[in-house]
Amino acid sequence: MEFPATRLRRLRRTEALRSLVRETRLEPSALIYPLFLVPGEGVRREIGSMPGVFNLSVDEAVKEAESAAALGIGGLLLFGLPAEKDEQASGGWAEDGIVQQGIRALKQNRSVDSLVVIADVCLCEYTSHGHCGIVSRDGDPSNGGGYEIENDSSLELLARTARSLAAAGADIVAPSDMMDGRVGAIREELDAAGLDQTPILSYASKFASAFYGPFREAADSSPQFGDRRSYQMDGANPREAMREIEQDLVEGADMILMKPAMPYLDVIHAARERFDVPIGAYQVSGEYSMLQAAFAQGWLEPQRAMLESLLSIRRAGAGFIVTYFAKEAAKALG
Ligand code: PBG
Repeated sequence: MEFPATRLRRLRRTEALRSLVRETRLEPSALIYPLFLVPGEGVRREIGSMPGVFNLSVDEAVKEAESAAALGIGGLLLFGLPAEKDEQASGGWAEDGIVQQGIRALKQNRSVDSLVVIADVCLCEYTSHGHCGIVSRDGDPSNGGGYEIENDSSLELLARTARSLAAAGADIVAPSDMMDGRVGAIREELDAAGLDQTPILSYASKFASAFYGPFREAADSSPQFGDRRSYQMDGANPREAMREIEQDLVEGADMILMKPAMPYLDVIHAARERFDVPIGAYQVSGEYSMLQAAFAQGWLEPQRAMLESLLSIRRAGAGFIVTYFAKEAAKALG
């Protein structure tokens, strides 16, 4: 029907009407809140490039988790900064590793039972060189400096890390390293250890992105040489992202994570159309920091811009969102 019989503005007249016909909703239970754990006690150190985000000792992280749970947030994603780094990333799979300690403390606290505790599985925070896998020094010198990030030898350490985190009580393990075959290696290791009920959330679609910059300050995980382009995907390749997802599902991933979010909404949408598994998206550090920078300048209205950014990610097809705004958003939605 044509105008004037059709007037699309009729359903926009009041907030009650707008709410009734809203097609996409945000709710706190679909938000995952990342935490960065550090050794010590009473540590709460703000990250320079991420206002409102902190390095937290385990006791402080538990407090942060309590307030997240009280706000109805769905879960936590845990990262760790170990006391010492080495070539074998031993801080990542140590029985008393910093994230393992954090998981145990959270699992002893009944007031955070509503939170799904997700442990990021990667080596970059734990290796002295900051790469996500084992580095061999005899790579091709014509290709950026004579080093190689080894694939197959890294799998064992990734699987060991995942097993250790699951054994400590993580509800989900989430590999973010982008080595080929890691989901299969992790599944096999978990099953062999009797951890067959621990799901794998694979960062299946992870692009080599400038938007991870502030995270590398937060997690102290910048590569000491080279970059991550030999293992993370080229931002130009949405079809390759579909192959990555397909591969991870074949290897046993239970759910997938898309990352970054806002610069890759088309890829999230394509994944939603094509795959019938739960799909999350990670609004990464740079997405958070650029909005915070604009808020600090008074250039954008914080609450509306934050919620609109999250809505765009939901609309593209993400069922849940990992975001540093989780608490602020939950308060705003409250
Ligand atoms: C670890 C990892 C990274 C992020 C999540 N897991 C950093 C990277 O790949 O360099 C980035 C998250 C963010 O930017 O908020 N591999």
